[in-house]
Amino acid sequence: MERSTWGTRAGFIMAAVGSAVGLGNIWRFPYVAYENGGGAFFIPYLFALLTAGIPILIMEFSIGHRFRGSAPLSFFRMSGKKAEWMGWWAIFVSFVISVYYAVIIAWAMRYTLFSFNQAWGEDTEGFLFNDFLQLTVSPGETGGIVWGIFIPLAIVWIITLGILLAGVKKGIEMANRVFIPTLVIIFLIIVIRAVTLDGAMLGLDAFFKPNFEAIMDPTVWVAAYGHIFFSLSIAFAIMITYSSYLPKKSDVTNNAFITGFANSSFELLAGIGVFAVLGFMATQSGVEVADVASAGVGLAFVVFPAIINEFPGLNGLFGFLFFLSLTLAGLTSLMSITETYVAGFTEKFGISRRKAVAFSGGLAALISILFATQGGLFFLDIIDYFINQFGVAALGLVEVIMVVWVLRKTKHLQDHANAISDIRLGGWWKFSLGVITPIVLGYMMFGLLRLNIFQQFETETGNYEGYSNMFTLTSGVAVASGALLLGILFSLGKWHKNYR
Ligand code: PHE
Ligand code: NA
Repeated sequence: MERSTWGTRAGFIMAAVGSAVGLGNIWRFPYVAYENGGGAFFIPYLFALLTAGIPILIMEFSIGHRFRGSAPLSFFRMSGKKAEWMGWWAIFVSFVISVYYAVIIAWAMRYTLFSFNQAWGEDTEGFLFNDFLQLTVSPGETGGIVWGIFIPLAIVWIITLGILLAGVKKGIEMANRVFIPTLVIIFLIIVIRAVTLDGAMLGLDAFFKPNFEAIMDPTVWVAAYGHIFFSLSIAFAIMITYSSYLPKKSDVTNNAFITGFANSSFELLAGIGVFAVLGFMATQSGVEVADVASAGVGLAFVVFPAIINEFPGLNGLFGFLFFLSLTLAGLTSLMSITETYVAGFTEKFGISRRKAVAFSGGLAALISILFATQGGLFFLDIIDYFINQFGVAALGLVEVIMVVWVLRKTKHLQDHANAISDIRLGGWWKFSLGVITPIVLGYMMFGLLRLNIFQQFETETGNYEGYSNMFTLTSGVAVASGALLLGILFSLGKWHKNYR
């Protein structure tokens, strides 16, 4: 069967950048950088980008382009069953991510409309948790549908699955060609407005002020690696799937550099925008930038609404643009992660794209809607923590060690990439993949396990927002090993004859 391909090189780059640029760039990067040394964070960040992010991106682009299949099919064609399970494992982790990622996009979508009249009122935190998410209902009342989340969530899934139904070129490529330039323009407007606010410099000073002691701290390096993995959407089966739709004659190495640098530029811009606005808020209300900067999800849904309340001039419009940019950035990432399992199921069972979207995308949408119930969001938080901390490091570590050390494919992939790309891969690429990345990721896994297991005995409440360590650890391990088990199970079955 003829494989779908991207229509143009720019179309592929837009799609890859669309996957990379997501909620992580806008609300995650600014506070991660701030908490991990500010201006000095750029040293570990750049190091992680150049020794792990881009090298792995090149590796995944080469695998997808060379073997022309979804992640499990590409791995199968590369090294048979002993590699296929990795693709399915990544796919099932992706499935879990898509389920909750969609929910956060739905919040952002709902907040675009709240922006016009600042429906969140003065107490933006109380509004988010009590009125909007309805987290504080008593246990007996949990389970009721929260329509304010249900409806936007349904819209998010209808848009995403509709785009995937339309196919690679007419669906994903077209959508990214519209969404990504729109996103860039909106974002530039936001950032320009932000840096011209009173007090913007105060925020930027706080953001860029280097704390050089921080870079001696190993946890800062771990944070940089963790963020790079999540931010570039690597180790999730995504980039293998997307590059499998490249035409035969395509430069993979250059495309990886473009994708990596575009994603980082967007993060940097987001950091500038967010901190300029925080500086404005600090000048208005006399709070310290430090007090509002590390709010996580709260940064977007608690702090920003409060700032929009005080914003000079067209505040409704500013709020609308901010949440619209979150929505667009999120949608292009959600379609990429959903495509991983749509492609995998299409090929394994030889079913049509239409059926794969209906069954697998439909299932994700249904599960996701369980989060739109009262109290349902308790779980979201835990899954998010785990996917970000363990999931990414574990998948990345296994993938790199398998490809480089067990299956010994470095040379093969290097030759493949070099045959079609302008930039030649050499020692830097091999050393980064084979030595630096496994050491840092291995250290990272070990450290996280230790933290979660042993601190149990030192503190009552645990290290993550009051959940006990054992609880977070078991639920995380349960999700990861559940996905792994399913992955192994799926790899046992035969490929449909069209894809063998
Ligand atoms: N790269 C996306 C971001 O920065 C996150 C993401 C990771 C999306 C994995 C899909 C899959 O937000
Ligand atoms: Na990103």
